Amino acid sequence: MEQLIPIVNKLQDVFGAIGQSPIDLPQIVTIGSQSSGKSSVLENVVGKGFLPRGTGIVTRRPLVLQLYNTSNHSIPTSPNAISSSLRSNTADTNPAGESDSGDENNNENANDVNTPPPKPLPSRKSTEIASPPVLPGDEWGEFLHLPGEKFYSFDEIRDEIVRETDRSTGRNKGISNKSINLKIYSPRVLNLTLVDLPGITKVSVGDQPADIEDQIREMCLHYISNPNAIILAVTAGNTDLANSDALKMARSVDPEGNRTIGVLTKLDLMDPGTDASDMLNNRIIPLRRGYVGVINRGQRDISQRKSIKEGLRKEMEFFKSHPAYRSLQHRCGTTTLAKMLNSILMHHIRDCLPEIKNRITGMMADIQQELDALGTPTGDISRATLGGSLLGLLSKFAASFGNAVDGKGSSAD
Ligand code: GDP
Ligand code: NA
Ligand code: MG
Repeated sequence: MEQLIPIVNKLQDVFGAIGQSPIDLPQIVTIGSQSSGKSSVLENVVGKGFLPRGTGIVTRRPLVLQLYNTSNHSIPTSPNAISSSLRSNTADTNPAGESDSGDENNNENANDVNTPPPKPLPSRKSTEIASPPVLPGDEWGEFLHLPGEKFYSFDEIRDEIVRETDRSTGRNKGISNKSINLKIYSPRVLNLTLVDLPGITKVSVGDQPADIEDQIREMCLHYISNPNAIILAVTAGNTDLANSDALKMARSVDPEGNRTIGVLTKLDLMDPGTDASDMLNNRIIPLRRGYVGVINRGQRDISQRKSIKEGLRKEMEFFKSHPAYRSLQHRCGTTTLAKMLNSILMHHIRDCLPEIKNRITGMMADIQQELDALGTPTGDISRATLGGSLLGLLSKFAASFGNAVDGKGSSAD
């Protein structure tokens, strides 16, 4: 998996570089009621604590989070590596092919895998330098709205998400469908895109519009109706599954449940004497892919700055020692969820390959037509160079991908 996803990102980058909208590759999207634990689940899957979390409405704009793995040196890890190399080939003859990403200048260091990453910038508040979540120098975040500024502390990333949320929505709990785009570069992440969405809430507070429920629903539907979205339908285990906003919404766009995973959070907070085994056994509201039970860090853990690692250890301990869950290990824990996601992603990508191939072929034809119309004098950026490299990538990808999928099989299917 880790070796395959960079190729998908590369394909996506190639598309971006030549001015096409990116291919709809799988994204992982969390939906659910407010404070059901959506942001916490995403953080745990990623293994990094940088999302604002808490009681009440905390996530007020969609956060589109792209993870880039920087450890595979043979593959460019930044979109700009490919876009700039394509640009240098095409800039003279085909200015129309320029992408408008606008951030081509800020990733020079990220592109060159042989250059060590720059030293961490001094922390904004110099007194914070010693706080634990300062990242090692090979891991950083960048926001689309702050091109060129590298964030080396998850605390600062979280603060910036909060500031940027306030900038467009005001401080009084307003919401906005304008996404915040954050990229995390690290040798220790999978190449994935994840989307953290505001939770469904029924009653407007503060500056929220009276139709807040509809607005948030619209926003969520926008992301989950993408057929390539994998939906994590989050429901707190200590609430009634029949009332789950997440399941209701997921069902409306994915009635067969092909791309929905039910996630039950807060199993540590269930009434003593009750447990989630019926739900985990898929007996209450059956989902094709079933449910996974997880335990995220609670508010006190967050206040005490308990690490994700510590949280995962406690989670595992809980499930191992709880009599109701001992026989349900394959349905419990963040690690189980991550494995399910990997497997679904692999199959999902494989299913998308023919469509991707069609689009590349279509693009090649378009490009050829443009070139013909321009009467390009030299054959330098011929169809063979541009399209050929795309298709080369794709076949290489398809081959390695097919092997991986067929060889390893799937635990989720
Ligand atoms: P969101 O609004 O759905 O994004 O939910 P958050 O991730 O912000 O979590 C809401 C609150 O619930 C936070 O205070 C979390 O610490 C807490 N929380 C989330 N999941 C769990 C869990 O599994 N167990 C416990 N005890 N608390 C949780
Ligand atoms: Na919340
Ligand atoms: Mg949230």
